[in-house]
Amino acid sequence: MINKIKEAVAFIQSKYNTTPSVGIVLGSGLGSFVGEIKIEQEISYSEIPHFPVSTVEGHSGKLILGELSGKKVVAMAGRFHFYEGYAPEEVVFPIRVMKYLGIKTLLLSNAAGGVNTDFKVGDLMIIKDHISQFTPNPLIGKNEKEFGPRFPDMSEPYSKELIQKAKQIAESQSFNVKEGVYLGVTGPTFETRAEYKMIHVLGGDAVGMSTVQEVIVAVHMGLPCFAISVITDVGIREEENTITHEEVLQAAKEAEPKLTYIFKELIAGL
Ligand code: HPA
Repeated sequence: MINKIKEAVAFIQSKYNTTPSVGIVLGSGLGSFVGEIKIEQEISYSEIPHFPVSTVEGHSGKLILGELSGKKVVAMAGRFHFYEGYAPEEVVFPIRVMKYLGIKTLLLSNAAGGVNTDFKVGDLMIIKDHISQFTPNPLIGKNEKEFGPRFPDMSEPYSKELIQKAKQIAESQSFNVKEGVYLGVTGPTFETRAEYKMIHVLGGDAVGMSTVQEVIVAVHMGLPCFAISVITDVGIREEENTITHEEVLQAAKEAEPKLTYIFKELIAGL
């Protein structure tokens, strides 16, 4: 596993000889954020040794290296989801690669269903904690000591300091940003009404099909994380209220400028 990561890293470094300090993972419908990056190198996932290849609509599947807010960044335009059929260790492979490229902070975005009844479509939710018990833990299996401990502490998976900074940035622009617990599911089905209710009862404020496995391996490796959800639909629904992937992408696109602002300012302050 470590060897595969090191081979991928060596390949990327052969094309881009600069150490990025921030890693960015962009969620469904949120990929145009890469337009903010002064791109210095782009590498298709298909070129990188051992990288899985992204298949889902709305994900373009390349690693973008360049500069943003005065920092060197590496961004994943397109991520890997468990529901696509990748094993958990494949889903998280790029996170480990970015860590070995040298990043010191990981920022993630995603599209999520709102479960908290105060949430509206288009809201942003800073993830303050997550529930991972509905998806396989990516650390199951032999522990690689070089990555981190067998039993990682998960008391603060999302950096309190970054959350605080993001809230200040949002307030300075009068963005109404929520904060809450993200519950990760496998998908690809959206939830039934009964499942949304269950997630609400369990303490989830939003539900989605990504992020949790990535954050677990990042925390395992001691990498501070910040993640934000765009609420693209509300799960505690009225009768006859359905949802499509297209609606999710549309809602994400509309909320994207606020998210972009927060990410850019956060990176500037790192
Ligand atoms: N459920 C799960 N994943 C999602 C949702 C949802 O309602 N919306 C966007 N991603």
